[in-house]
Amino acid sequence: MKIVLAYSGGLDTSVAIKWLNEKYNAEIITLTLDVGQKEDFKSIEEKAYKIGAIKHYTIDAKEEFVRDYIFPAIKANAMYEEKYPLSTALSRPLIAKKLVEIAHKEGADAVAHGCTGKGNDQLRIEITVRALDPSLKVLAPTRDWGMSRDQEIKYAEKHNIPISKISKKYSIDQNLWGRSIEGGPLEDPWNIPEEDVWEWTVSPEKAPNEPKIIEIEFKDGVPIKIDGKAMDPLSLINYLNEIAGSHGVGRIDHMEDRIVGIKSREVYECPAAITIIEAHKDLEKLVLNRREIAFKRIVDNEWAFLVYAGLWEDPLRYDLDAFINKVNERVEGIVRVKLYKGSVMVVGRQSPYSIYDIKTATYESISTFDQTLSKGFVSLWGLQTVFSRSKMKKV
Ligand code: ARG
Repeated sequence: MKIVLAYSGGLDTSVAIKWLNEKYNAEIITLTLDVGQKEDFKSIEEKAYKIGAIKHYTIDAKEEFVRDYIFPAIKANAMYEEKYPLSTALSRPLIAKKLVEIAHKEGADAVAHGCTGKGNDQLRIEITVRALDPSLKVLAPTRDWGMSRDQEIKYAEKHNIPISKISKKYSIDQNLWGRSIEGGPLEDPWNIPEEDVWEWTVSPEKAPNEPKIIEIEFKDGVPIKIDGKAMDPLSLINYLNEIAGSHGVGRIDHMEDRIVGIKSREVYECPAAITIIEAHKDLEKLVLNRREIAFKRIVDNEWAFLVYAGLWEDPLRYDLDAFINKVNERVEGIVRVKLYKGSVMVVGRQSPYSIYDIKTATYESISTFDQTLSKGFVSLWGLQTVFSRSKMKKV
């Protein structure tokens, strides 16, 4: 039997190499995706071979991640429960897709992942793999082996699996779109996150006293330039993570509802995501009309839910994308954003598709808005409210 294992280099997936190999008498091929987590991929590879992988793949998927996952999320203003930009969630269907690709290439019988039975990631990886190839088996050793963390460490020691000496305080997952931190003292929702939680952002108190104004230019709903300078998507996101993070922008503290029903306290750092989505949403408000915006908010929410819930491959997600892409054809222009001590505020916007009309909006004499028309409009608009309110008095 041949198994392709999604491998991060951490304790769970390291133990999984050995455990799968023993349990199924299987050959293990490990796969590590670079989605911008800035790790030492060489030593991850060495570790996989040392534990017994017969082959290892490191795939640089950063550009694909931005183009096919982050960009659609920007166009959908994707925020789960209005707070979480889905940074971890977006990377999972891509990992699943690559697992399937490598499984086909290697003629493997199964793929495996290190997700536990308590989280959302098991849904995202397993459902995506099954949707792409229902004939592949999906194994979840961490969910099946029933070892506690102590037993895992003993297992690792017994089998000479290298483990990092510092026992980690938090569970961390990161990629280009953000950093997720959970566990340890954060498990008490009353505890204020300690400073050691944060890596990408300075505390707003220590952020520069001078605000920074940047101009983000969008075309087809995605950012293409900063301060007039064209940037490739990867550098643009990296740059915004840095600059917004240096002004304390991007910290999120969230009471979150996992799909399995657990309520959990999750902390995130997403400087670029928060800045870009704030700007994108504002630009939509300049170019879309009231009905389009109201309807798109419903679509956006559904999109975020599907992605959070592991249903990336659901036809509905593709259907929603068709609408979202259509609307974003007009989301073009420049947004001025002010970064200041943890806050991101849009302070200016312009677009060739703007439907703001100064001649109707202005209070100056150039106004073309005929106020005499409003007299009748007010009466009709309030007709039902005024009449039904008079009946209310009687009950
Ligand atoms: N709650 C987030 C999600 O379901 C992040 C999960 C991963 N977090 C972590 N610290 N390992 O997408």
